[in-house]
Amino acid sequence: MNQTESHSTHDADDDPRNRDIKIYVNGELVHRDDAKVSVYDSGFMLGDGMWEGLRLYNGTWAFFDEHMDRFFNSCKSVSLDPGMTMDEVLDALNRTAAANNMTTDVHCRLMVTRGVKAKPFQHPKLSRFGPTVVMILEHSKPVDQLQSKGIRLATVPQVRGLPMSQNAKYNSHSKLNCVIACLQAEQAGADEALMLDPHGFVNTTNACNFFIVRRGEVWTSTGDYCMNGVTRAKVIELCRANDIPVFEKNYSLYEAYGADEAFVTGTFGAQTPVAEIDGKPIGTGERLVTERVRQLYKDLIHATTAG
Ligand SMILES: Cc1ncc(COP(=O)(O)O)c(C=O)c1O
Repeated sequence: MNQTESHSTHDADDDPRNRDIKIYVNGELVHRDDAKVSVYDSGFMLGDGMWEGLRLYNGTWAFFDEHMDRFFNSCKSVSLDPGMTMDEVLDALNRTAAANNMTTDVHCRLMVTRGVKAKPFQHPKLSRFGPTVVMILEHSKPVDQLQSKGIRLATVPQVRGLPMSQNAKYNSHSKLNCVIACLQAEQAGADEALMLDPHGFVNTTNACNFFIVRRGEVWTSTGDYCMNGVTRAKVIELCRANDIPVFEKNYSLYEAYGADEAFVTGTFGAQTPVAEIDGKPIGTGERLVTERVRQLYKDLIHATTAG
């Protein structure tokens, strides 16, 4: 495959301002070249941490409460104390944005790990000095080109599995499961991976939630085996509020290949159309429902973040 032609749902326009950003590291704001964590950090050593991706529009963090709800729920589930309240997280985010002169079209990766370990081994009790809290804010505008071109997905052997293994709802630092899926998709000549659930139903992509449009209806997986995406929830809510039939249900590749449209959702890129799955073009390329959902979502962001 020609690597120059490959895309990701997280492609952003290059912004030279990002070369000199200040990053929040444990309460300090430091130049990106000096933003460092220990090689003993639980996140580096084991992927033992949780993260959240947020977007800043017009000086407001979109759907902040929903992001924090998921984040604190995840942290509690793995007995990880972020050492900050929701208000303190907001304050740190705003302080970092202000230090960088950022107000809109900004993406943040908020990361909290169990902290620095006393010894280079797995046991959580060795994580004695922590947590480690990092907030990377970047000027970030998803590339426009993907809206017309769409993303190419390949179905992969890697699944997002049952909740009693690594629950798919954890935004954990360890993304190895998803990274393996993405590698498998790239090796199959696609941009990103379409992952099935343990029963073989269509589930999610390696980095976004997945929707199809069939005969005017919007379908997505049951939600049992994928990330409880904030954007996914907003799309479902918007469909319900605007008389677009929407269903969370089991469906197979049969229905996905034969869909009229397909799109993926995530905080980074909002809604990104899917051009093909396993080399099969999706629909005719006319994406009326995807475009309608995208506009409704844009309006919602505007309504909830404009002054
Ligand atoms: C595997 C996966 N699916 C979906 C999403 C999208 O979630 P959200 O819409 O909350 O950004 C993410 C982003 O964190 C993710 O990692």
